Amino acid sequence: MFRVSFLFIILGFACLSCKSEDKNKAVDDKEIIEALLKARYNKFLDYKVDSMAFARSYNPKTAAIKKVPSKDWTSGFFPGNFWQIYMLTSDEAFKNKAKKWTAFVEKEKFNGGTHDMGFKIFCSFGNGLEVENNQEYKDIIVKSAQTLSTRFNEHIGSIRSWDHHSDVWQFPVIIDNMMNLELLFEATKISGDSTYHKLAVKHANTTLKNHFRSDGSTWHVLDYDTISGQVRARVTHQGISDDSAWARGQGWAINGYTTVYRYTKQKKYLDRAVATANYFINHKNMPEDGIPYWDFDHPDIPNTSRDVSAAAIVASALVELYHYTNNDAFLNYSKKVAKSLKSVDYILPDDIDAPFVLDHSFGDWSHREEMDEPIVYGDYYFLQTLLRLRDLE
Ligand code: GLY
Repeated sequence: MFRVSFLFIILGFACLSCKSEDKNKAVDDKEIIEALLKARYNKFLDYKVDSMAFARSYNPKTAAIKKVPSKDWTSGFFPGNFWQIYMLTSDEAFKNKAKKWTAFVEKEKFNGGTHDMGFKIFCSFGNGLEVENNQEYKDIIVKSAQTLSTRFNEHIGSIRSWDHHSDVWQFPVIIDNMMNLELLFEATKISGDSTYHKLAVKHANTTLKNHFRSDGSTWHVLDYDTISGQVRARVTHQGISDDSAWARGQGWAINGYTTVYRYTKQKKYLDRAVATANYFINHKNMPEDGIPYWDFDHPDIPNTSRDVSAAAIVASALVELYHYTNNDAFLNYSKKVAKSLKSVDYILPDDIDAPFVLDHSFGDWSHREEMDEPIVYGDYYFLQTLLRLRDLE
């Protein structure tokens, strides 16, 4: 009954939006967004705050919410979602919840065993800092950057991504690692210590030189030789094959280089983001609604899953890239994705009791996990897209 009425609300708002599209589209969008977010996240304002239980995904087969500790690479997204809902709605209850969840991520500032510092610390404390000028949050960001710096290898010119599979890889660097650079750039802005900025630029340059194919796409994993500093192998871990274009990986590259351009204003980074964005939005296997299959080269297309998270990561980046390029194709893609994701095709049915808005993200093929499920980072980049589109207006 509630599901029906919830869908009715969405469709009702969607109709409202169609009718008055010319008059005041922004206001209608806001109503839809608030209806979606509050109906879903409001229920989880009482969700038990616990450093071991960050909501990550929902498994429809077991009807269970997957909860993870703060050390998981996704822990920052759940607080980040509450911060962003607060920014969208100005409802203090979401801000209070965001602060509580954010505090539980703090201990990760000492965790040098992973490169995922940006995802964990910047999506939580970084968003918090955007809401309030909080010295404690600034100190945590700088300490986290210091810890992340210990993974940088001067000879190779990169931050090491993973420590696992040390029998296979000497020094693996994954394209996802580009998403850590914002934390480093901000740490320099906060502290005045240029070390972090310089290190981010070196990582971006090494990745720029080695990680991209001539068609604009990116490999997922590069393995570097620790003695020669040269590339040993170009492979995948989460894509369908070594030479395929894993959709979310393309998203990390586009988003990452757009961010590097923001902090450096060097054209080579803008060119990189633009080339990979063009590859992504114009791909022959990109469906009409802008939500890609989880790997552009999957042999079973169209009979394989989409990845909402990849679409949202790129949609968010392309609002910013539009700002730098005035290329309408980029803004059109972002708007198309935002519209598609607000439709019943992608909104999680309301009778599913989980703190997520969107269904159909694709997690990790290497573990055969979270394939076609609601995943916290799908919501995160969707919310970021909505905020960026709102700010553009
Ligand atoms: N490592 C982040 C991802 O799975 O996209």
